[in-house]
Amino acid sequence: MSGGRVRYVWVPVALVLVAIPLGLVYVHWSKSGPGAGLYSQVWSPDPVQGWWDPGRFFQPVQGVQGVFAADQCIQCHEAITPGIVADWRASRHARLAEKEPVACPDCHGADHQRLHLPTPEVCGACHAKQHGDFQDEARYGFPSHVLAMERAVDAKHFADKPKAEVQACVQCHSVATKCDSCHTRHRFDPAEARRPEACITCHSGPPHPDDETYFASAHGRIVREEGDAWDWSKPLAKGNYKAPSCAYCHMDRGRHQVADKSLWKFGLLEVNPQTSGNRVLRERWVALCMDCHAEGQSRDWLAGLDRERKVAWGKLYAAEGLLKGLRADDLLHPGPSERPTYPMDAPDGLMARARIGYYEGQASAFYNVSGIERAYFEMWYFDNLGSYKAAAHNDAEGVTRGHAAMDKAFANIQFQAEALRTLGEAEQARDGHRSNAGDLWLAGPYTEANRVGN
Ligand code: HEC
Ligand code: HEC
Ligand code: HEC
Ligand code: HEC
Ligand code: HEC
Ligand code: HEC
Ligand code: HEC
Ligand code: HEC
Repeated sequence: MSGGRVRYVWVPVALVLVAIPLGLVYVHWSKSGPGAGLYSQVWSPDPVQGWWDPGRFFQPVQGVQGVFAADQCIQCHEAITPGIVADWRASRHARLAEKEPVACPDCHGADHQRLHLPTPEVCGACHAKQHGDFQDEARYGFPSHVLAMERAVDAKHFADKPKAEVQACVQCHSVATKCDSCHTRHRFDPAEARRPEACITCHSGPPHPDDETYFASAHGRIVREEGDAWDWSKPLAKGNYKAPSCAYCHMDRGRHQVADKSLWKFGLLEVNPQTSGNRVLRERWVALCMDCHAEGQSRDWLAGLDRERKVAWGKLYAAEGLLKGLRADDLLHPGPSERPTYPMDAPDGLMARARIGYYEGQASAFYNVSGIERAYFEMWYFDNLGSYKAAAHNDAEGVTRGHAAMDKAFANIQFQAEALRTLGEAEQARDGHRSNAGDLWLAGPYTEANRVGN
């Protein structure tokens, strides 16, 4: 090989060898700021974050001083927080046969100025099975409970928007960083966690209407009508329940993993439900339905979900096609270079480009956009995800409603696309170029000024 040709090999190799460590150093640096996640250098936590993500951010009060034994904690807190002590007394932790109770210092520590709130690791010291399953869920990727905090604080719109607007994200996404989301403190009752009410504080609302779709289904209706009379202290196993609750289907046999059967992954993108990996997951679903239904019916219902998804994605791709056509002809109005960049996306100021669809990152770019892009975002994120959950949970009316909403959104997008073309052509004919909307738009609602205090 001549010297010149060798250079083509070692120059890229040397660049890669430098780039990889630099990339690792950059990620490490970006995560080492006062906040959490990839944007921790620009985002610092509100105090309440200490309660949602106690392992990282909790600061105990300094007003009470001393190292106390369990009975002292109980005695004093009986007066200060009687509800907490009463719940603890009613819990299994306080009434262990032939064992010392699991008391306040076991979860919080004994030195009042250095108290901690228990992270999953603290519970895991005694509950290795549940904690182990919980941690192990990470191998299914997101969405999953164990990765929920990371997903929220690593989402661009979490750092882009004013802090007061996004604090609520962490309340729901704290399911990853503490164990009292489903069996709440200080009763820690599995019977509570088995009921649908344990999940719907977080699993409701437009992008994930699990609450709405489940209670509209035959399962949810039976549980609502008869569930109060059931004995929820029985484990989630075949024969114990007439109709399934959320946990019966998603945490079957008490396994602390909700992502171990996931085929459609929140409905955000089209997947091939028949890959060999997905066929393994499907068998888990079928086995579960067969606790109460015939095998053929179980398979047919899941195939019905796949068909609903195929039709939904046909509609979404048609809308994406219209948007991509407008982008190619520079007809979005205001265009990508005429509107404010997101604070976390400074390079977009140099090479502005509208993001369309999942792979281009549109899920985190939906505020400073033109009307037609926002209309597509809503079709994709609300109408489509609503229809997915309705199909997954056997809420027939919800599927009809979701598809009607998608059809209406598509008609609106088509109408807007035609108007943008007509406008663009008229401007070209009149001035020889399109009008510049930048002056009107560059000071948008999520520009730098709004991040003050983030
Ligand atoms: C002499 C009374 C007293 C004793 C004993 C006591 N606490 Fe407290 N504790 C308090 C008071 C008062 C507060 C509320 C402080 C505040 O909100 O300003 C508190 C707050 C807490 C909090 C909330 C954390 C925080 O920073 O707000 C926890 C958890 C707690 N105590 C656990 C314990 C445990 C565990 C023990 C035993 C090791 C214990 N306490 C013993 C008086 C006591
Ligand atoms: C099995 C573990 C466990 C035990 C035992 C326990 N706690 Fe807690 N405690 C928790 C968890 C979990 C939280 C919620 C932490 C969070 O919000 O991140 C909590 C929160 C608290 C808080 C703050 C709650 C609030 O809503 O302001 C106080 C106060 C408290 N515990 C006191 C006590 C006292 C007193 C005892 C003993 C009677 C006790 N805890 C026993 C797990 C425990
Ligand atoms: C010091 C050990 C210890 C710690 C720490 C601990 N537990 Fe427990 N927990 C127990 C024991 C022992 C039982 C009784 C059942 C058993 O043996 O598993 C129990 C039972 C439970 C139960 C079943 C209660 C019932 O009514 O059947 C739940 C739920 C639970 N723990 C959750 C938690 C959570 C959540 C945490 C952390 C916030 C935690 N535990 C921390 C020892 C502990
Ligand atoms: C404190 C809030 C909270 C509670 C309570 C909660 N979840 Fe979740 N759940 C989340 C969040 C947040 C995510 C998404 C995490 C992410 O971004 O990866 C999620 C994700 C999921 C997923 C999606 C997994 C996938 O692969 O798509 C399922 C299924 C699920 N939860 C079921 C349940 C069930 C069943 C219950 C009740 C037993 C429950 N959750 C209770 C917050 C919660
Ligand atoms: C009411 C509770 C709740 C709130 C508030 C909430 N989330 Fe979520 N989030 C969820 C649930 C539940 C899921 C899982 C949905 C599923 O699998 O159906 C989820 C999924 C996600 C995902 C995974 C899907 C994806 O796009 O990759 C991300 C990221 C996310 N949320 C970020 C955020 C951010 C950022 C905020 C605040 C702006 C937020 N969430 C507010 C409950 C919530
Ligand atoms: C998404 C909801 C959810 C979260 C989060 C959750 N649990 Fe549970 N937990 C449940 C359900 C549902 C059951 C009842 C399972 C059954 O019927 O077998 C349960 C039962 C338990 C039990 C009792 C098991 C038995 O056989 O009696 C323990 C102990 C427990 N959980 C510990 C934990 C620990 C530790 C964490 C945090 C790592 C945690 N849980 C987080 C929903 C949850
Ligand atoms: C009859 C069993 C069943 C019940 C009951 C049930 N679900 Fe589901 N759920 C499903 C199926 C099946 C899917 C589709 C999963 C897939 O695509 O792999 C699903 C999807 C989900 C997803 C998205 C997970 C993903 O992989 O995309 C979440 C989150 C969810 N359900 C939460 C809940 C909540 C919360 C409840 C209770 C209010 C509930 N479910 C009740 C069967 C059930
Ligand atoms: C714990 C028992 C139980 C489990 C598990 C269960 N179901 Fe059901 N399901 C019922 C009962 C009870 C009914 C109402 C009576 C009926 O229509 O058979 C029902 C009704 C239905 C219906 C409405 C039936 C109709 O003819 O309109 C559908 C669809 C359905 N289930 C699908 C599923 C799917 C899919 C799964 C698995 C993901 C599943 N079920 C798991 C108990 C269960």
